[in-house]
Amino acid sequence: MQIRRLAPDEAPPMDLLLLADPSAQMVEDYVRRGRCYVAEWNGGIAAVYVLVPTRPKTVELVNIAVSEEHQGKGIGKRMVAHAVEIARSLGFKTIEVGTGNSSVGQLALYQKCGFRITGIDRDFFVRHYEEDIVENGIHCRDMIRLSQDI
Ligand code: COA
Repeated sequence: MQIRRLAPDEAPPMDLLLLADPSAQMVEDYVRRGRCYVAEWNGGIAAVYVLVPTRPKTVELVNIAVSEEHQGKGIGKRMVAHAVEIARSLGFKTIEVGTGNSSVGQLALYQKCGFRITGIDRDFFVRHYEEDIVENGIHCRDMIRLSQDI
């Protein structure tokens, strides 16, 4: 598997990006403002993430997604580790990520990759998404913010 930056003239893998965020408008905005990396596997794109600078020396990992047939094989962890390395090499000092209170697997993944919970944006998903989101039998209401000093 090779992880590389998306070429400037290459279309972003929207099907994968939309797995992480159902809003095409938000996804397009992130991709435009950030750096998009893809993992190639057998001639196809198996995973993606986007790094978006937010504040001085701080970057946010957004839209990480692994294609459904490749999930659960450690690719998500490799993508997070790659994002941390790229952020460090670009001179950022802090990397942040956010996920829903119902995203149990994602909360496990980020903490296993060294992120610590820093805050909760209460009712973020209620305010920003029209449809109710339910995962793992839990109503997704709050954004859990995590970060890591790098
Ligand atoms: N409890 C404990 N650990 C859990 C868990 C749970 N409920 N669910 C997942 N994990 C752990 C796994 O065990 C694994 O850790 P391990 O290697 O120590 O066992 C780790 O989390 C993730 O495994 P990995 O195989 O690297 O993840 P993945 O390749 O399936 O990718 C996602 C993870 C989230 C990127 C992938 O599921 C995905 O694309 N989901 C849809 C898009 C999405 O939700 N993106 C994130 C938006 S915030």
